[in-house]
Amino acid sequence: MNKSIRPFAFISFTLLAVMSVYAVDMNKAYDMPDASKIVKDDLIPSPTKFIIPKDCKLDDLERIARGKYMFHALNSKNDNKENLPKGMKAPKEDEVKPYGNCVACHNIENAIGGGTVGPPLSNYKANFIDTKVRDAQFVYQKIADPRVDMHNTSMTVNLTSKLFNESEICDITAYVLELKKEKPTK
Ligand code: HEC
Repeated sequence: MNKSIRPFAFISFTLLAVMSVYAVDMNKAYDMPDASKIVKDDLIPSPTKFIIPKDCKLDDLERIARGKYMFHALNSKNDNKENLPKGMKAPKEDEVKPYGNCVACHNIENAIGGGTVGPPLSNYKANFIDTKVRDAQFVYQKIADPRVDMHNTSMTVNLTSKLFNESEICDITAYVLELKKEKPTK
């Protein structure tokens, strides 16, 4: 090698070496999440059929009480967390458990500010179950995953999305189907 270019060669080599070290470091410095994977994980799986579990006793008063709480409770700090029905765990301070909040869209007996996005569910047993227009399985499926019988529904998906578990869906079904003492609000 020509003596006069040796220093240049040395400097270029050193520079390249330093740059490659930085290049490696930069890769480590930035966490590169796979966006398509994140989007996929966030999507609710496609409409899924569920069968009402055998141990879902619809006349169990404790179930009905929990179902009532979930139906009416708004996702707010004002929920009465001290007086939770038996078998229900209070969510932790930072836990956002959207406790059903069915009342946001549906009216029902004793509802406070029941919404009108969904049909009123007052007197459901007499109107739908006793007249055999619907059965318990229909209601269970509707709450678990309403997309099965109505693909473009605006109702929330509760079981496929894992917002609730099977037992909780049973609790809410039991409440909707209960013959209520309160007068229908609508
Ligand atoms: C974002 C609004 C919304 C929320 C929240 C919601 N629903 Fe609905 N619901 C609807 C709409 C709209 C329909 C009518 C379309 C359909 O059947 O999917 C419906 C239908 C239903 C039906 C079927 C009525 C019938 O016999 O035709 C039941 C039962 C029901 N909802 C129960 C519930 C329960 C229980 C909850 C709470 C876990 C709930 N819904 C939360 C909007 C909502």
